[in-house]
Amino acid sequence: MQGLRLPLAVVFLQVFTPKSSAFVGTGGAGVWFNGRGGSTTQTPSSNPQDPNSNREYTALQAWRSAMTEDPYGILASWFGPDVCSYRGVFCSDAPGVPIFASFRVVSGIDLNHAYLKGSLVKELALLDHLSFLHLNSNRFSGTVPDSFRELHYLSELDLSNNRFSGPFPTSTLLIPNLIYLDLRFNSFSGEVPDELFVKDLDAIFLNNNQFGGQIPMTLWASPASVITLANNQFSGSIPFNFGYMSSRIREVLFLNNKLTGCIPEGVGYLTDVEVLDLSFNSLAGHLPSTLSCLSEVEVLNIAHNQLSGELPELVCDLRSLANLTVSYNFFSGFSLDCARLFFRNVWFDFSGNCIPGSDMQRPPPECMGIPGGGLSCLRIPSTRPLACAGSMGQRDGMNRVPYTFPSLP
Ligand SMILES: *[C@@H]1O[C@H](CO)[C@@H](O)[C@H](O)[C@H]1NC(C)=O
Repeated sequence: MQGLRLPLAVVFLQVFTPKSSAFVGTGGAGVWFNGRGGSTTQTPSSNPQDPNSNREYTALQAWRSAMTEDPYGILASWFGPDVCSYRGVFCSDAPGVPIFASFRVVSGIDLNHAYLKGSLVKELALLDHLSFLHLNSNRFSGTVPDSFRELHYLSELDLSNNRFSGPFPTSTLLIPNLIYLDLRFNSFSGEVPDELFVKDLDAIFLNNNQFGGQIPMTLWASPASVITLANNQFSGSIPFNFGYMSSRIREVLFLNNKLTGCIPEGVGYLTDVEVLDLSFNSLAGHLPSTLSCLSEVEVLNIAHNQLSGELPELVCDLRSLANLTVSYNFFSGFSLDCARLFFRNVWFDFSGNCIPGSDMQRPPPECMGIPGGGLSCLRIPSTRPLACAGSMGQRDGMNRVPYTFPSLP
């Protein structure tokens, strides 16, 4: 399989800015490779010799028939045998074929912001070489056909900002080489399967749906660098079994759910995390001292919970901190190092707490009965004793299966 050319995604104008919570915004940011590949620009061209073209034609015509509205007239070009000339369809040389026999295959579809109405059809699985399907900001409804598991080359699936609904589309988890799964801003509901976090995905975007139930205990097994569960209905505690967790995770966005209980001690294992946002939940108790291990964290937002105790200096001392937001909890004080954050030019918002002598705090009666005040977070079991720095590499070696690039059919 040497010299095999993976069809790769188009280049986007909008670039990811991984250090902002802008991740929760509507999708369409596009390509996600995280060093596992590269991008090439592809130009549509004709493919007279393509032995696949019948299958591709069948697939795209079946899909076109399942579209009911096309306000920008995109599908007007979806006629005739040359599928590479269809708007939004990208072709590249078939992989694994010698140059003299080369032909073009459909390697990607980008219909972002086309505002098409319709549904996905099972015939799309006939696009044997499809590597990306970007459908951000359309009006597709229904769910993902089971046949999608046959899309062996598909690595990026962006269905964000559509009208998909029903339970989690488990067919996506059977797509063998999927790396980027974006289901943001739809109406999916119900529980999220355990398998989601076991799959070798690099980006998992589920925010702004109606997913609920407990976050699966497999969460920290995920090798993803970004996991956004924000703006859903997840309840129960944050899984505490960090033993198998990847150290690669950089963004954890769980804001605006219904999470309860303590912040587990194992968060200290998130040694690469840059953005940790647990705000707008019902987390309670004291902060775990392991937060001091988050040496890369730049944005730490735990606002609008029921956390209490002193805001410890080990949090305020975090060396990469740029924004510490702890507002609307029940903190009763903070250490001198926290006061110094203002001199370090770190954004520090502690309004709406119970800190004596400070402005913009809760009225004293509210501070009398702290919700979850008796909750001792130290009793939460963790799978192994935490030592911030030194043991990290060792933990990786013990628990993570090294990533190997998926072999192609
Ligand atoms: C810090 O984070 C909070 C919460 O996400 C946000 O409202 C605020 O604008 C941020 N501050 C800066 C300076 O980025």
